[in-house]
Order: sequence, then C-alpha cells, then structure tokens
Amino acid sequence: MPPDSITNPPSADSLELSASEREALGGAALGWVLKYFNEASAPPVYPTVGAAQLSALVDEALPQDAQPVAAVLEQFAMLASFGRNNGHPRMFGYVQSSGSFAGVAADFLTSAFNQNVTSWRSAPSATAVEHQVIDWMKAMSGFDREAGGILLSGGSLANFAALAVALRASTDVDVNQLGVGALPGKPRIYASAMTHMSIPKAAAMLGIGRDAVHLVPVDAEFRMDVGALRTQIASDRAAGHHPVCVVGNAGEVNTGAIDPLHDIAEVCAEQRVWFHIDGSYGGFAARAPRAAPALAAIGRADSLSLDPHKWLFAPLDAGCLLVRDPRHLKRAFTHGAAYVDVIADRDMSEFAFWDHGPELSRRFRALKIWFILKCHGARAITAAIDDNIAVAQTLAAAIDASPDFERLAPVPLSIVCFRYAPARLRGQRDTLNALNRTLMVDVQREGEAYLSNAMIGDDFALRACIVNYRTTAADMRVLLETIRRVAARTA
Ligand SMILES: Cc1ncc(COP(=O)(O)O)c(C=O)c1O
Repeated sequence: MPPDSITNPPSADSLELSASEREALGGAALGWVLKYFNEASAPPVYPTVGAAQLSALVDEALPQDAQPVAAVLEQFAMLASFGRNNGHPRMFGYVQSSGSFAGVAADFLTSAFNQNVTSWRSAPSATAVEHQVIDWMKAMSGFDREAGGILLSGGSLANFAALAVALRASTDVDVNQLGVGALPGKPRIYASAMTHMSIPKAAAMLGIGRDAVHLVPVDAEFRMDVGALRTQIASDRAAGHHPVCVVGNAGEVNTGAIDPLHDIAEVCAEQRVWFHIDGSYGGFAARAPRAAPALAAIGRADSLSLDPHKWLFAPLDAGCLLVRDPRHLKRAFTHGAAYVDVIADRDMSEFAFWDHGPELSRRFRALKIWFILKCHGARAITAAIDDNIAVAQTLAAAIDASPDFERLAPVPLSIVCFRYAPARLRGQRDTLNALNRTLMVDVQREGEAYLSNAMIGDDFALRACIVNYRTTAADMRVLLETIRRVAARTA
C-alpha cells in the first residue's frame, strides 16, 4: 500500500478534544476546585443521603455516545455535594487529613504529565524527584539519612511492605523462592494490642497468618509493655519459634499512643529482631515541639511507615516506607524477569522502583509532596501539626472541665477519646455506650461536625481526630455545644 493511502480510521480523532474544548473543560474543573476550597468551611460536613437514593442518581446504562462535557461536570458537582467534606474544619472522623491546594494542583499536573514511575529509564525526572522527596521524608521524621525508601499508596501498604522486608531480613532462607513453609520455626510478629488492623492483615497476606501476630499488652496509657515484649520474645525463641519483627506505634490509631520507642529499640537490639515503626499517623510529628520528645527514637528503627496523605496534608493517595539499610528493600522485592531487565548503563539509569516495592506501574506520587513542601516549607507543616496537637489539648482541657463530658484516654497527639456522660448516668457503662453510639450517628446526621469512634476497653468513645490545618479552638467549642444540643434532643 503506498504511504499516502494510509489514512486515519474515522474514530481515531474522537478522543482528542479540541483546544477550545480542553480550555472549557479544564477551566470548568478548576472553577469547581476553587469554589470547593473557598467553601471548605461551609456545612454540612456530611450529607444527608440514603444509599438507594445515591445509587439511583448514578444509575445509567454504559454511555455509548459522547455527552456534553458541561453536563458531565454538572453531574459530578451534584455527586460531590453528596460526599463527606474532608476539608471541613470540624471533620474529626478517622485519621483523615484535609488535603491542601498545593497538593491538588500537583495532582492535576501529575495526571497530565502521566509518568509511569517504574524506573529512571521510564521516568527520569520523576524518579529524581521521588528520590529527593524520600530524602525529605527522612529529614522530617528524623530517620537515618542513608536509608532507602519508596512511595506507596498508604500506611497499610507501607506496613505490608515493611513486614515483607522484615521477613526476608530475618533469615538466610530464600523465602521468595521457597515460601514461609521453609522457615526454621513458626514466624512471630510482635505488636501492641492497639496496633492498626493493617498489621494482622499484612501477616495474613504474607501467608504467615494472623495468629502469628502476638499482641503485647499495653499500660494505662495504651503504650506497649516492653517487659512483656522482652519475656515473650525470649520464650518464643526457647520454644523454637522464629521472631520476625516488632512493630512499634508512633501514634496508634485509636488514641494516638506512642510506644516507648527507645526501650523497644533496646529489646530489638538485644534480641536481634527487626524493629518496624508504624508512623502512618504520628511520624511527621517528630519535629513538632509538643510531640518531639516522645518520638525522638524514631531513627533507631529498621523501617518506618509514613503517610503523607495524613499529616503532610497531601491529597490521597500517598504512603511511604523508609528502610534503614536499602539492601533489605531489594532483597524483598527484586524479581528478575526478562521484560523488565534494566539496560545496564550504570548509576541512576539502572535504578528501578520495581526492585524496591510491590508495584510495577506507579503514579508520580512524589510530585504533590514536592509541591507541598516547596510551596509551604517544612517549618509551616510542622507548625500546623503542632497547632493540631495544641487544639486537641484544648478540647481535652474543656472536656476535663465539663461536668457532662468524660475523657477516656490521654492525648499524646491530636486524637481525643471521650464521651458524653452527664452526672445522672455516670457509672452506667451500658447506658453510656448506647447513648454515645446514638450521639455519634446523630451528630454526623446534623452535619455540623463529624466524629468517629473507638472502644477504650469496654467503653464506647467518641473519637475526635484533628488532622486539618483549618481547625481551631473555636471548632472545639462548636463540637461540644453540638453534642450537648443533639443529646438534649435525644433525651
Ligand atoms: C497508625 C496507622 N497505621 C496505618 C494506617 C493505615 O493507613 P492507610 O489508611 O493510609 O492505609 C492508619 C490509618 O489511619 C493508621 O492510623
């Protein structure tokens, strides 16, 4: 066929919007984003909508033909109005951060730039930026400067990858080839009774099994009992078991408790066991004056999970794993295959992220972190974290001073666990549990504030997590007034 008779099939151009269409769609999307940020503090925090109603709103046959982009955007705006407003200053549910505009702008650029950050060869500049960002993560958390690291989707994946690394580092057996059945003894992982669910889940996914996770008891402040840890590891070794790692909390998910990291590091050194710290929530507080002393030993860990989509205010998703000796990352994840062989031309061009983590195709997650840290500076981020802790302490003090509220846990970071407990109901656990369960849902329905919950022993706690640079002490007053108002109505 002569070259000039090769023509485009008629449909090939239809995925290319014209320059003016791109401008119109991009401008409208930006307009929505700007409005969303301008109105971040407007209620409701949570929409009143039923699941069936929402399903009906999105129910539509597969669109075969193009719809006007204005109509598509309008439908998105309607659906967005039925989302939870995570940027709202009184969104206190879970460890859910507000995000930030610099991160959003970077995410837009990330999608447009569409780099596949598998390796230096595939994405030279993005790989360089991720290495830079990993270095900044070490500096912010006080982790070893020589460490290796990788960005992942979140804290759960970082914990999963950390346990995979610790497992390989715990033995000369080639676990990748032979599986965990070839280990010399039953694998054991040690974590506090408050550990995040991602730890037993990781044990299950690694084939070690959830039963392999020994939950070490905690003290009255929900911190790991290090004496019990030491005794357990020694008796497991005597029984022929195979200790894999100890997981310490740098801010556990229920109360924000920080385990005695220095003492755990000592036990791990004595017993030659890998020390992993789950800093998904609290790791970035390491430089915040109100938390720094309790987090000073972070640098002693063999590995550290961080979650930039929490206290670095990055939009979802962005997690991070740091490993003090980078060779252990490679030992766990290198998996030669012909189609991914790196052309060996030395230095950075040989570098491949697939040798350092579970993913092959990877989004350019580093860009939003790079933007946030450059647009605001680490000092401002650290100050915002410290402010969040101060605001949480304000709430704790207000609760302690109120006859109708009761605090259920210490406040080492920015989580406050408490309950509505008027004098006439004090001591009636079942009644208080039922009342506070109802209150949590009713407060969510009101849309003025959003709380989640935790079980503190047998007590149902309302749990306020403050991970938002917009939240102030005034929001704490509104929160307590809202709960009182809803309680009066419930009564
Ligand atoms: C202490 C801790 N670890 C792990 C996780 C899991 O993080 P992600 O939701 O990013 O997977 C969380 C989430 O809140 C957490 O608080």
